Amino acid sequence: MTRFIYIADTHLGAVGPIYRQQNSYIERLPELIDCLARWRKRRNDVDFVLHGGDMVNAGTTENIQRATESFAPLSPVHLSLGNHDLTEEESLDVWLSRAPEFFRHTGPDSLIETDDCAIHIVPTQWCDLPYRWESSLDPRLLTDQAEQIRRDLRKRPDMPHLLSTHSPVFDVPREQTGWDEPFHLPPEQFTRSVMALVNESPNLCCVLGAHSHVNMHVMNSGCHFVTVSAFPEAPFEFKLFEIDEGTMRMTTENLGEEVEFDFAYDTERSYAQGRRCDREFEFCTQARRGVTVRLGGGNCSTGGRIGR
Ligand SMILES: [Fe+2]
Repeated sequence: MTRFIYIADTHLGAVGPIYRQQNSYIERLPELIDCLARWRKRRNDVDFVLHGGDMVNAGTTENIQRATESFAPLSPVHLSLGNHDLTEEESLDVWLSRAPEFFRHTGPDSLIETDDCAIHIVPTQWCDLPYRWESSLDPRLLTDQAEQIRRDLRKRPDMPHLLSTHSPVFDVPREQTGWDEPFHLPPEQFTRSVMALVNESPNLCCVLGAHSHVNMHVMNSGCHFVTVSAFPEAPFEFKLFEIDEGTMRMTTENLGEEVEFDFAYDTERSYAQGRRCDREFEFCTQARRGVTVRLGGGNCSTGGRIGR
């Protein structure tokens, strides 16, 4: 059994107002990390933490150094870099030289292999400069990244594979937000590029994103597309993935009952937590290889416009 915690959008070092969905308690991040470390210790069966990006609010040397100290209680932590992690010309070099513990190999892209699954860590690109974010948000994967994913998918065809990249692949379902307008709709080209991988790879079962600060679970072509709400926002949620031979289970957990400070929850924005079907599922990982699908947590939405 492989178990890992999935968190994202911690925005360490943020000062003043930033993008958020729920009430944010970034100033309490050290306490929240300690609280999560205690939760994990109590369970005593979680193998690692996967951070889906925007670990820091700006990729400065000072923030990256702080991140190595702040996230040490959750070690081992794997990081799939987000746009906020790459704001400076030197951000990538500083991550790799000062925070190598977050990266499995010498580069920012890597493959985590366990006895039960393989997880591709593939940072989203945002502009013509690789591994850099200036101002525009135009998510994409480099040709080399897509080719490496394909090679790694072929290496372990017997395993369920997960892909972690910061940008969501689909917008948040309108049934979840209750709005007429799409929310966090990525460019069609990005969705197409990820769906090309999904549709040619029956063993790619789940794509993990972040960035929107919303819990989302969309199914398309038998693949699960998940995003997680921001960890420092009430009620401090994260995902627990449990994968064993033939089964993948995801639940959404929170620290609302455990934190030792008062916080307020904005009920007007409860869409960020999602419906039950956005928060949990269980399925047979062989489903995409032609075996019966078993889905828990009710009927989840079918993602947008691009299918097989
Ligand atoms: Fe982001």
